[in-house]
Amino acid sequence: MAATQVSTPGQETAAEAASVEGGTAPDSVDSAAEGHDRPLEAAEPIEEPQSFPVTVIVRRYDPEVDDEPRWVDYDVEMFSTERILDALHRIKWEQDPSLAFRRSCAHGICGSDAMRINGKNRLACKALVKDFDVSKPIYVEAIKGLPLEKDLIVNMEPFFDSFREIQPFLQATGKPDKERHQTIAERERFDDTTKCILCAACTTSCPVFWTDGQYFGPAAIVNAHRFIFDSRDEASQVRLDILNDKEGVWRCRTTFNCTDACPRGIQVTKAIAEVKQAMMTGVKL
Ligand code: SF4
Ligand code: FES
Repeated sequence: MAATQVSTPGQETAAEAASVEGGTAPDSVDSAAEGHDRPLEAAEPIEEPQSFPVTVIVRRYDPEVDDEPRWVDYDVEMFSTERILDALHRIKWEQDPSLAFRRSCAHGICGSDAMRINGKNRLACKALVKDFDVSKPIYVEAIKGLPLEKDLIVNMEPFFDSFREIQPFLQATGKPDKERHQTIAERERFDDTTKCILCAACTTSCPVFWTDGQYFGPAAIVNAHRFIFDSRDEASQVRLDILNDKEGVWRCRTTFNCTDACPRGIQVTKAIAEVKQAMMTGVKL
């Protein structure tokens, strides 16, 4: 019986195309189009991405069941380009729907999925599997220093209380006819600290905050910096006075954990140093 050639829609071969036109098949589509005989170089075969098993060990805690947090192992099939957030989704959707964690944007913008991954604070949505040694388990736990509510979720209220306390909003009197003018240099002065997404990765990586939950913490100081050095703002001294407290900037021991943890690359320790300097000199350099 004669073999039947099967082609799928949109996959017409060059020979078929030529036969429609009543000619012979060209060496290649390009050469036919350009009217040259130049054959195309053989295309490199595209490698199919391969998945591989990854062991993710999550510190679980359900206050209704557990006296203490416990570590639970999960084997997850992952691709190297995926994120730890994808692993957590896979665990939740395919293995254990009771796993609790926060996330919203999944693209490093909302700041809701800061967690401790292999001992370092990161956003789960920015932590790529390929950046970990997957021959070993990946440990995931809640950020430290804030009350643990369930699994990877902590109570963020103490963190936001400190944030609110430094008055994170522009305070300026008078009503200009149009906008409040600012030079490029004046805007540059506080550009770095405008990038904060309030993820708490800095504050909850700070050893001082772990031992003294009353400390304002790096994130609050970063957000104070954002307004203290804004040329349009008139309440800089109010914020400096708030942070000149025993739980304010002077608790900072310059360990740089905060700068290392910040997923936005903010120079957190430098910002804290600038606030200290403004406090001592009264000059906003
Ligand atoms: S300074 Fe960085 S680490 Fe700290 S809350 Fe803001 S974005 Fe997160
Ligand atoms: S989910 Fe929004 S920052 Fe990660």
